[in-house]
Amino acid sequence: MNSGPVVLILRSRTEQLRSLETIHKGLFVIGVLAVLLATVLSFAVARTITRPLAAITDVMREVAATGDLTQKIAVRHSNRWDDEDARLLATTFNTLTDSIGRFQREMSQKERLTSLGRLSTVIAHEVRNPLMIIKASLHTLRQPNLGADVMRDVVRDIDGEVVRLNRIVNEVLDFARPIHFELASVDLNALCRESAIAAQASGPGPEVELDLDPAVADVTTDPERLRIALVNMLVNARHAVNGNRTGVVLHTRLSGDRVRIVIADRGAGIEPSELAHVFDPYFTTKRGGTGLGLPIAKNIVEGLGGTITVSSVVGRGTEIRIELPQRT
Ligand SMILES: Nc1ncnc2c1ncn2[C@@H]1O[C@H](COP(=O)(O)OP(=O)(O)OP(=O)(O)O)[C@@H](O)[C@H]1O
Ligand SMILES: [Mg+2]
Repeated sequence: MNSGPVVLILRSRTEQLRSLETIHKGLFVIGVLAVLLATVLSFAVARTITRPLAAITDVMREVAATGDLTQKIAVRHSNRWDDEDARLLATTFNTLTDSIGRFQREMSQKERLTSLGRLSTVIAHEVRNPLMIIKASLHTLRQPNLGADVMRDVVRDIDGEVVRLNRIVNEVLDFARPIHFELASVDLNALCRESAIAAQASGPGPEVELDLDPAVADVTTDPERLRIALVNMLVNARHAVNGNRTGVVLHTRLSGDRVRIVIADRGAGIEPSELAHVFDPYFTTKRGGTGLGLPIAKNIVEGLGGTITVSSVVGRGTEIRIELPQRT
């Protein structure tokens, strides 16, 4: 009779322990579920921020790479834009690119007008002189009993001025219109020789000394455009040595997959204050110069994937260094 309650207590303890164990297990499962739920929830919340941010950075990267400011982040038609901050960032970015695009258009319009203003000054100045000379020559031609010698001189003058006018028009056009390159495989050394001959034909001055590397015999480039650039620089160099019989060297070298062309002269050199402006359109220190020779050369070389730099010491001379890819 007395053993009954003892057994009952023992049973209830075991049951108590068992139910405690069940509670523990239950708590453990709830804990694990809570952690899982928290992870899933925080992941979902994070996704509402990271997905829009990824979309924003994708467009930013694209704009940075292409410079295309018309690219926009599409904010409205997607349910990924749950995060208010990300939406704000995206719309601010879109407004920013709109503003930059507008400023760029305004700037280029202003630059075009300034450029047109300077161009008309150059044209007015450059074209008026030859026209005056032609007019004076025609006046002479109208004189009665004109000697054959005088007639020949006057006609030569007119011819010279027409050539000058044509050159001015060509230079302005070369600078103003976009360049369409026509690539071909060329012997760069042959091109240098031809350019030297063309520069020598442009007026009195020294012969151009050639120091050519046989390794640049096969280069892919636009020969016609490159020739224009080289002639412009060789004419400048011959001009700078001012009547000396030597002092202009044209030098080519292959260096890795790049071709180096150097035009060096032992001429007057360029003042440091002027050196920074020699590639500015219309910068000239010459009477009758258009100041477009070097800007045209720079446009061509950079359009061919190359670089052009100038260094100069007053009284010692000037060196123009061009680096071009061997295969453009
Ligand atoms: N080799 C050089 N030595 C000294 N000065 C130079 C040399 N090359 C260019 N310059 C300077 O740079 C200026 C600009 O040269 P650029 O060829 O653009 O125009 P320009 O020679 O004045 O005119 P254009 O080429 O139309 O006859 C020149 O006026 C001159 O002052
Ligand atoms: Mg020049």
